Amino acid sequence: MKRHFDRIGHDYDKYHPEHIQKFYYSVRMSSLEKYLKSDSLILDLGCGTGRHHLWYSQKGFTLVGAEPSFELVKIAKTRNNKMVQADAFTLPFACESFDCVLIVSVLHHLGGEKNVMKVLYEIDRVVKSGGYIFLIDHNVLCPYVPILLKTFPTDRDDPNVMAISQFFLQKVLRNMNYEVQKLVYYGWVPNIIPQSIMFLFRSLETILAQIPLVKMLSAQYIVVARKISNV
Ligand SMILES: C[S@@+](CC[C@H](N)C(=O)[O-])C[C@H]1O[C@@H](n2cnc3c(N)ncnc32)[C@H](O)[C@@H]1O
Repeated sequence: MKRHFDRIGHDYDKYHPEHIQKFYYSVRMSSLEKYLKSDSLILDLGCGTGRHHLWYSQKGFTLVGAEPSFELVKIAKTRNNKMVQADAFTLPFACESFDCVLIVSVLHHLGGEKNVMKVLYEIDRVVKSGGYIFLIDHNVLCPYVPILLKTFPTDRDDPNVMAISQFFLQKVLRNMNYEVQKLVYYGWVPNIIPQSIMFLFRSLETILAQIPLVKMLSAQYIVVARKISNV
């Protein structure tokens, strides 16, 4: 997997136009910021090029990036020097180091549910008691996701690609003594939408996100889970 992202590293940011990234960053942030404090230390696991790090730091949050691909780490370091080359299965951090672990579009690259469970246990090791895990990935209920997995450049050449169900994640997290606080559905704006008509899609996203059942067909989910304190 690392080799795949090393190969496409230089083009990675081109697959995500700046105005679309910024839009989705703000959609996610509006769902997540209430769980964070201004001094929260966040691990962005599988951070890729660290494309959101500048925006998070503008909000005052401190992000540490962990990413296995050497090429992506090189790019991410130009945005944030708190960056380590590391694999999610064995993180080079002490137990209970982070207030929050953010993992965006990584789970479907891990090779299936067994590996995802191993990574969740490793994430659990580094999250503080009372801290949060934000899991963001492709929604298994979205009819467009299987096409996306076969065609999108970051996914199509990865033999390990497998969508990971948000319901599976919630079940595992509850068994790990986490409280699932929220399941958000979002993602109706394809990457091909030009900036000039973004206002239309912004409204569409807002409307569809409020319609029960329909919203469950959106392209992405966010699972917010809180580690229940042991004391
Ligand atoms: C689709 S990219 C998402 C990158 C970034 N999170 C973002 O939203 O731009 C998938 C990322 O998962 C990373 N990844 C794949 N396997 C991993 C593993 N075992 N441990 C940590 N990251 C991994 C890849 O190197 C790549 O950066």
